[in-house]
Amino acid sequence: MSLDTFLEETRLINTGFCEKQKENISKLFNEANTNIDTFWNNRANNLDWIQTWNKTVEWEKPHAKWFVGGKLNASANCLDSHLENFGSKTAIIWESEKGDSLQLTYNDLHQKVVSFAHQLKHTYNVKKGARVTIYMPMVPELAIAVLACARIGAIHSVVFAGFSAKSLQDRIKDSQSTCLITADGGYRRGKVIPLKDIVSNALANHACPSLENVIIHQYIQANDPLPQFNSTPVHKFICDSIIEPKDDPIETMDSEDPLFILYTSGTTGKPKGIVHSTGGYMTHAKYSSELVFDLKENDIYWCTADVGWITGHSYMIYGPLSNASTIVMFEGTPDYPNQSRFWELIEKHKVSIFYTAPTAIRSFMKWGDEHITKHDLSSLRLLGTVGEPINPEAWMWYHDVIGNKNCPIVDTWWQTETGGIILTTLPSHHPSKPGSAGFALPGLSVEIKNDQNESIINGAGLLSITKPWPSMLRGVWGDEQRFKDTYWSTLETYFAGDGASIDENGYITVIGRIDDVLNVAGHRIGTMEVESALVEHPAVAEAAVVGIPDDIKGQAIVAFTILKEGISESPELISDINSIVSKQIGAIAKPKVIVSTPDLPKTRSGKIMRRLLKQVAEGQEIGDTTTLGNPDIIHEIKEKMALSNV
Ligand code: PRX
Repeated sequence: MSLDTFLEETRLINTGFCEKQKENISKLFNEANTNIDTFWNNRANNLDWIQTWNKTVEWEKPHAKWFVGGKLNASANCLDSHLENFGSKTAIIWESEKGDSLQLTYNDLHQKVVSFAHQLKHTYNVKKGARVTIYMPMVPELAIAVLACARIGAIHSVVFAGFSAKSLQDRIKDSQSTCLITADGGYRRGKVIPLKDIVSNALANHACPSLENVIIHQYIQANDPLPQFNSTPVHKFICDSIIEPKDDPIETMDSEDPLFILYTSGTTGKPKGIVHSTGGYMTHAKYSSELVFDLKENDIYWCTADVGWITGHSYMIYGPLSNASTIVMFEGTPDYPNQSRFWELIEKHKVSIFYTAPTAIRSFMKWGDEHITKHDLSSLRLLGTVGEPINPEAWMWYHDVIGNKNCPIVDTWWQTETGGIILTTLPSHHPSKPGSAGFALPGLSVEIKNDQNESIINGAGLLSITKPWPSMLRGVWGDEQRFKDTYWSTLETYFAGDGASIDENGYITVIGRIDDVLNVAGHRIGTMEVESALVEHPAVAEAAVVGIPDDIKGQAIVAFTILKEGISESPELISDINSIVSKQIGAIAKPKVIVSTPDLPKTRSGKIMRRLLKQVAEGQEIGDTTTLGNPDIIHEIKEKMALSNV
C-alpha cells in the first residue's frame, strides 16, 4: 500500500442517514461552537450521576479534571440505569468459537455483575482503588469481571489473552495488582490456549508478590481441581448467587477516580499503563458511541475487537452498554471453521452495525466475495473501521460488497490515550472520503501542525488535539515524566504520535505513526519492545527492528540481528529466535522475517541508523550513508535481505 494511494484519493461518497440525524449533528456542532462547557455538561447529563458536578473542567496543562465534584458509578450506568425500561432487553449475545450462543438480558447481566462484585469485595477483600488484572478469553465472564470491578471501584487492567506470560507478569507488577481474574483456557481455531499454564509461568517464583488472590473461570474443564500458583490462593469464578439489593457493593466514585488502566506500547521497551477516569471517560464513551454509530433501540451492534484493547473497552463494553444497546461478543476468529464465519454470524443474529479493523477487511477481500454473497447481510445499516489507515481500495470493497452500497462507513481515528473516537466522518453530515478519517467530532478540536506548533491548513504534519476533552488520558500509571515527555513536549498541545494530512476541504487523513511504534494488524507494537525481546535470546548480541508495508496487516516487522561470536546461522536458530518474541511479548509481535547480519549500520558514534535498514527492508534506494562508520555493511544486508524473499 503506498502513501500516494491515500493522498491522491479525491472521491467523495454520499451515503446518508435520515434527516433527523442530520439535524441532530448540526445542532451538536452549533452547541459546541457556542459554549463548549455547556456542550459537555449536556453530554455528561445523559449519564446518571449520584451527585452533580460543580465545575465542567479544570485544566492545568497537562492535567485535566472533568465534571469536578461529580459522583457516579460506571457499572451502574451500564446496568442499573436500564433495568426499569430495558431489564428484559438482551444486553449480550455471546457466540462461542464452537458455535453455541448465549443471551444475557440487562437483568441477567446486572445480577451476575452484582454477584461477582459482592464476592470481589467481601470474600476477596478487593478495595476501592485496588488494581485488578483481568486475563481472559472473549467470554461473558470477561465483561462481568470488568463491570464488577467498576462497580466496587477497583481499577481494572485488562491484559489481552494473546499476550505472553512475561507481558502478563510485567503488567501485574507495574500496576501492583492485588487480584488476578483469569480462566483455565480459551479456544482459538479449535485448539485450547492453555491460559492457566501461561498464568503459572507469569506467577512462577513468586514473581508477582502484590497478588493476594487469583480467581479462575473454569471454562474449559469446569470440574477440574483448581490449579496452584505458588502460594497465592486460587478461587473459582462464581457469579450466580443472588445478592439482596441492600448487599449490593456498589461504590460511589468521584468523577476523577480512575476507572481503568490499559497498557499500550510506546517508544521504549516498557509498555505504558494509560489511566482513564470515570466521569469524563464515560461521558465520551456514551456520547460518541450513540452519535457515531447512530445507535437506535433495536440495533444489534457488533464490534469485533477483543476487550483486551481500548476498542473493546469503549465500543464493546462501556459505550454501547451505557446506551442500553444489544452487543454481540464473539470468542472466535473470522476464518474458523471457515472463512464465512463472520457473515454467518451477521445473518444469524441480524447484526445492524458492524465495527472492525482494516486488516480484517483486507483479509476478507483476499478470501473472495463468494463467502459473503451466499449470506443475507441485509440487516446491516452501518459499517465502521478502526485501528489503522484503511486504503481506499479496501474502503470501496467494504462499501460495495459488505455494505451492498447501502451502508455508510465511519472510519474512526482515535487511540488508547484518547479513550474514545476523535475523528470520523458523520455520514449524513459530510460525505465520506475513502481512506480519510475525516473531521473532529462536535466538541473536539484537532489540528495538523508543523514542528513549530503552527497550524497547517492544507498539507501534512503532526496530528494534535488542541483542547482538553473529557476522555483524555489522565496519565501514565506511575510515570508522570513519561506522560509529559510523550504527549506534551513535542507541541504545545497534545501530540498523538501520528502524522496526518489535511486537504482543502478539511478532511484529515491519518498517515501513521511517526515515532518508533509500529502498527501491525491494528496492534501497536514498540520497535524497542521487540528488540528487547530479541536480545533475550542467548544467541543474539544486538537487534534492530523496522516496519515495512504489508498488503494485509498494514505493516509487518523485519528484524535484523547480530549473532554472538562463534554462533552460526541456521534456519532452526532463526525460527527459535523468532519464537522468543512470542514468548516475551505474544504472537502478534512476531517478525515476518529475521535477517542475521554481521553488523548493523551505525553512525561513528554507534547509533543504529534504522532509516537505512527500513530502506533496505522496503527495497528502496539507499539514502545518504556518509555518516556511517561502516558503510559497506549496507550492501551485505541488502544481499541477505534479497535472499529472504520478502
Ligand atoms: O496510528 C493510529 C492508529 O492506531 C493508533 C492507536 O492505536 P491504539 O492505541 O492501539 O488504538 C487503536 C484503536 C483506537 C493511532 O495512533 N489508528 C487508529 N485508528 C486509525 C488509525 N490510523 C488511521 N486511521 C484510523 N482510523
